[in-house]
Amino acid sequence: MFVKVERDYEAMSQRAARIIADLVNQKPDAVLGLATGSTPIGLYENLIRIARDEDIDFSGVTTFNLDEYEGLPAAHPESYYSFMQQHLFDGLGLTEQQTNLLSGMAKDPAAKCAEYEEMIRRAGGIDLQLLGIGGDGHIAFCEPGSSLAGRTSLVALHPKTIADNSRFFDRKEDVPRKALTMGVGTILEARACLILATGNAKSDVWAKMIEGPVTAQVTASALQLHPWTIAVSDELAASKLQNLDFYRHIDRELIDQPELPLCIFQPELDPRRNIFAAL
Ligand code: GLP
Repeated sequence: MFVKVERDYEAMSQRAARIIADLVNQKPDAVLGLATGSTPIGLYENLIRIARDEDIDFSGVTTFNLDEYEGLPAAHPESYYSFMQQHLFDGLGLTEQQTNLLSGMAKDPAAKCAEYEEMIRRAGGIDLQLLGIGGDGHIAFCEPGSSLAGRTSLVALHPKTIADNSRFFDRKEDVPRKALTMGVGTILEARACLILATGNAKSDVWAKMIEGPVTAQVTASALQLHPWTIAVSDELAASKLQNLDFYRHIDRELIDQPELPLCIFQPELDPRRNIFAAL
């Protein structure tokens, strides 16, 4: 896992946006896995600005979102569909044909989930999967105890997640209790993962994800098994990491090198060769 610590939320957002912008510049038909939550909002704002300022063409990009609440129609203001329109798709001018989300109103969720997996396969797989981390250490809606080999499915939300998400709904009873979500196994098939965290409230789970054991109790820890995970956070979220100085050292060595996911498409640029030669 490549751990990068930025000064604050804005610096984290800029760095993450730059990784995605560079990827799309280099691979205009990139398949992006996208996330919701308050954490990536700054990244999305920066990405829209960079795309405009640098005239980056997103018309060949395809997107797949991680998850969607069960029982919320797409038009509901708190659906992840609405979130993505508001925070990214409108700003980048992405069309309905380019963007894919699970439907919270699917009559046969299992069939929809299987179809979603097939759509990802037909698109050639996800190049870069963006992720946030839940307060209980989940990625997407893969709650504690989820199979680390799990595929896209309908799941029950943990009471902590329901409580965390209640801030977006007028009444507690309105908060969805279930969701459709990619599984950890689905996520680990992406060619690269980019996970973000901000604020002190995430510092415990961030340390568990990076330095704790791989466990289904903290599904984000499964990213330790992925060869190309970049974990970008602000100082506050990183404050409980034991090996912080070492991560900073590695990150400094990478300055002026292309960001890592690009090396998947141009292996000769892989900066790790130089780093490990220097150690
Ligand atoms: C929800 C989403 C996750 C997200 C998490 C954290 O549970 N399904 O994908 O990472 O919220 O959200 P926030 O960034 O608001 O802390």
